[in-house]
Amino acid sequence: MKRNICGNVSFIGAIDWDLKKFHGEDYSISSGSSQNAYLIEEEKTVLIDTVLTENRCEFIKNLEEEKLLDRIDIIVINHAEKDHSGALSCLMNKINVPIYCSAACKNILEGQYGKRGWDFRIVKTGDELEIGNGKKLVFLDMKMLHWPDSMATYLTKDEVLFSNDAFGQHLAIEELFSDKADEGVLFKEALKYFVNILNPFSVLLLKKIEELEKSGLNFSYIAPSHGAIWRKNTKKILEKYKEWANSYKENQISIVYDSMWGGTRKLAKKIEQSLNSKEDVVVKVFDIAKTEKSDIMVEIFKSRAIFVGCPTVSNSITSTMAGFLEYLKQLKFKNKKAGVFGCYGWSGESIKILKEKLKESGFSVCEDAISCLWSPSQEDCLKIQSFVENVL
Ligand code: FEO
Repeated sequence: MKRNICGNVSFIGAIDWDLKKFHGEDYSISSGSSQNAYLIEEEKTVLIDTVLTENRCEFIKNLEEEKLLDRIDIIVINHAEKDHSGALSCLMNKINVPIYCSAACKNILEGQYGKRGWDFRIVKTGDELEIGNGKKLVFLDMKMLHWPDSMATYLTKDEVLFSNDAFGQHLAIEELFSDKADEGVLFKEALKYFVNILNPFSVLLLKKIEELEKSGLNFSYIAPSHGAIWRKNTKKILEKYKEWANSYKENQISIVYDSMWGGTRKLAKKIEQSLNSKEDVVVKVFDIAKTEKSDIMVEIFKSRAIFVGCPTVSNSITSTMAGFLEYLKQLKFKNKKAGVFGCYGWSGESIKILKEKLKESGFSVCEDAISCLWSPSQEDCLKIQSFVENVL
């Protein structure tokens, strides 16, 4: 259903209340999501992005029922990932119109859907396209925010930045706008999206925001490709992104662990007790087998130090911990300390492996560690206070 945003700009995307996972199983979704496609109806009618492949039929049916499909003159694809290009093949079978996108986007679209003879018009930062009524689209390269092909499109006069994934949230909101959302939920989901999708590209992001601010463009609306459209508080999300992208941390310490028979869990609890004796610090403890890793990553992002525990299993770490640490490495956190702990039965390699993997992920890892044969003894527990001090 077409929903007005401002002027002749409408939302025509899909609101997805049931979506639970994104990027395979990596990103858990608890507040729904949306794929925001937009229609600009000036002298030229422009479609900006499409929807997830699974939602393509309803998307096209809606355009047909509202007699909009045959009026589309131009398609802009800001990013080729299938949550935004998923309806493109079906759409191009019905309307053969030019597709404006980055050079990398063309290559990825052809990689995903084959070379179909589509009329690509390659654009780069600063390129403009007149769409009538004195308005134009200005294209902005957003390379690696978060794919090589990513781009944003700015609509003059209405001052709308179609930012694609940047500034998005996995949040289903029927009212569409940020000022209609519960602010706590809105920024919680915006932060989770930032941590799990954009944090690895923080340096590029800071440069891009500086470029946007120096461009002299006004942003009355920032219309991302997921979640609420920023209206009235566009400055606030820009400021939050600058804060988050600048090695953000709070006075928080997170303890994350996996346990087979409770020994490593007991150590986690002893470390928690030791940390709780400190004033002001926020301490959180997560069993990685029970809490979604994309939520734990937000807590690690907020932490100045983490403690990671895992027992030794067949000369290694548990497969759950191995997967968790691989995901942690991808997110490229900076300026955080780490300490490791774990129980073992006969060989005890988990400590060495945890240290190596955390160092590879950019953490400053304390050489001191707590390693216990079978179950933590009273003597082991007495070492925890000094271990905690050494890590911090
Ligand atoms: Fe929302 Fe990178 O796709």
